Amino acid sequence: MNNFDDVVNRLGTYSTQWDYTFDRFGRSDVLPFSISDMDFKSPPEILKALSERINHGVFGYSRWNHSDYKSAITQWYTNRFNYKINDDWIMYIPSVIYGINKVFEVLGNKNDTVLFLSPAYDNFYKSLTANQQKFITSHLIVEDNQFVINWQDFEAKLQHSKYFLLCNPHNPTGRVWTEDELTKIVVLAKKYGVLIVSDDIHMDIVYKPHKFTPVLKVAEQLDYLDKVLVITSASKSFNTPSLGGAYALIRNAEIYKKLMAKIKEADALGSPMILGIIATMTAYEKSAYWLDNLVEYCYNNMIILQNFLKEHFPEVKMLPPEGTYLAWIDVSSMGKTSAEIQNLLINKGKLGIMSGDVYGEEKPFLRLNVGCPKSKLLLGLDKFKESFQ
Ligand SMILES: Cc1ncc(COP(=O)(O)O)c(C=O)c1O
Repeated sequence: MNNFDDVVNRLGTYSTQWDYTFDRFGRSDVLPFSISDMDFKSPPEILKALSERINHGVFGYSRWNHSDYKSAITQWYTNRFNYKINDDWIMYIPSVIYGINKVFEVLGNKNDTVLFLSPAYDNFYKSLTANQQKFITSHLIVEDNQFVINWQDFEAKLQHSKYFLLCNPHNPTGRVWTEDELTKIVVLAKKYGVLIVSDDIHMDIVYKPHKFTPVLKVAEQLDYLDKVLVITSASKSFNTPSLGGAYALIRNAEIYKKLMAKIKEADALGSPMILGIIATMTAYEKSAYWLDNLVEYCYNNMIILQNFLKEHFPEVKMLPPEGTYLAWIDVSSMGKTSAEIQNLLINKGKLGIMSGDVYGEEKPFLRLNVGCPKSKLLLGLDKFKESFQ
């Protein structure tokens, strides 16, 4: 049984979040609430399965195309999302972002436009730019205390796009797209013949009463399943991103074949990271209870943060959390620029919190990762207060 209150020292483990704060914040002594991984140990079942595999001692090439791996995933979808996926839609991919980029690479031409919603996960901008893939964004707006799609702008841009890159739940705003919103998206994509690629990596961290709906489910109801792909992973939910491994769900046999040829033949990445495979299977088969506890813990952290802001910084806005362990905080009413806010947080408070501009937000925003023990969060909030005193 995990105790999420336990503090694990991550310094000296080559941790991107903890050991390399200098690269992000220009100082090595900041308390980080940054990159999206968590400070928790993975579930005990995963630790046991990994150590058994490590003790075996032989790490030759492996395979993912077997019923143990695929049934762990299909069962997860049935049990958690009440959606039946077929075994033959599943394809192991080394990582989510790699998979997304390969989809665009095998299907398109660099001048085919990818549309996505902004603000957005920074790697969407970075990797599409590095791959010289054309893209445009449609900025979310706030309505009724929620970030929502600006449908007029979205439709206008979708008409000129070949792909829509969805992020569900959405990093950084934490929005969990409802079935109605997904239906509207799929209806419009169908109208303009746009292929949807959905990054569902945050699908398991959703706060009640919100509910994650796989876009595939909606696409199936609207007879558009062949033009909707999902790329996801167990790595966010069970804190295993450094073990490697993600997967795609693709019903369209032609696209499946093209992507498989790219990964297996062209890039010679057919043999999976065995520790990532073991972690995924064990997580899905044995650790659902742990995930439920984690979601509750992260939700409590979100509420602590929200109450802290209400009490000490009433001008700062944080909308009700829906999903992900990333809080998206509007600090535009503090009367300071993003650079000034970062300077105070880093140099006065010794705090490493991501600045909104990393995600393409022009107004001053912060993205604060609450996937950590409560004691770290409380210490961070004290430092937050000090930063502005
Ligand atoms: C929306 C989103 N997609 C993808 C990733 C990264 O996934 P991977 O490391 O498997 O490429 C992240 C990590 O922060 C993310 O937030």
